[in-house]
Amino acid sequence: MPDSNAIVILTGAGISAESGLETFRSADGLWAQHRIEDVCTPEALARDPALVHRFYDLRRAALEGVAPNPAHGALARLEAQWPGDLLIVTQNVDDLHERAGSRQVLHMHGELNSALCAACDRRTGWTGPLPPAVDCPACGAPALRPDIVFFGEIPYQMDRIEAALSRADMFVSIGTSGAVYPAAGFVRMAQAFGARTLELNLETSEGSHWFDESRLGPASELVPAWVEEMLAS
Ligand code: APR
Repeated sequence: MPDSNAIVILTGAGISAESGLETFRSADGLWAQHRIEDVCTPEALARDPALVHRFYDLRRAALEGVAPNPAHGALARLEAQWPGDLLIVTQNVDDLHERAGSRQVLHMHGELNSALCAACDRRTGWTGPLPPAVDCPACGAPALRPDIVFFGEIPYQMDRIEAALSRADMFVSIGTSGAVYPAAGFVRMAQAFGARTLELNLETSEGSHWFDESRLGPASELVPAWVEEMLAS
């Protein structure tokens, strides 16, 4: 049953687009420049670790040149002032929500600024390049990899996400194409538990028809306007 005022917000690459980070499925997006099979699968990592590590090194380096945009800032403001629970579940691996001041952020697809040990599963904060076969500071194995959920791997903290969706009074999806599961199914799950659902996106997504309401436009305009509405209500 929904808790009154509990909000779950799902974000995708579109919320970071106006900060200057590339999305995936736009005409010139990351998956137009690179094949997923070459840089975002466990098989790719085993076949050509240097290529995969270099792809994420480039994306990690790009973080240094960008900043949160008004959409990230508005969500941080909402978290600070909202009387109920608020959780951001992001598909993004950038750190822009945190840099904008959000604290309740769950990275279901991992994070660029983190390295994962393939031997002991421990995580280490990581900025700068991460070459293959770096020793894990916890177990010593030469097995650090980008802490990214590849296609074919299981997204992180699904139990916590499903528990939050079951309690949500409202589910808001921002800047995602609704192309990748399980994230693309969260709207249906939230609705089944009784939540109201809202989509804020630049264009109609694959999931728009599931939402109670879908607003089209840039996140830097739609998200601050929605947050002002919520805080005035
Ligand atoms: N404001 C709001 N929405 C935007 C903006 C913007 N300025 N720019 C783009 N968008 C929207 C696009 O219309 C699109 O619907 O953001 C969405 C981006 O879609 P994708 O590129 O598919 O990115 P995303 O939905 O986050 O991808 C999901 O797929 O490849 C995997 O793991 C990767 O997390 C990623 C997942």
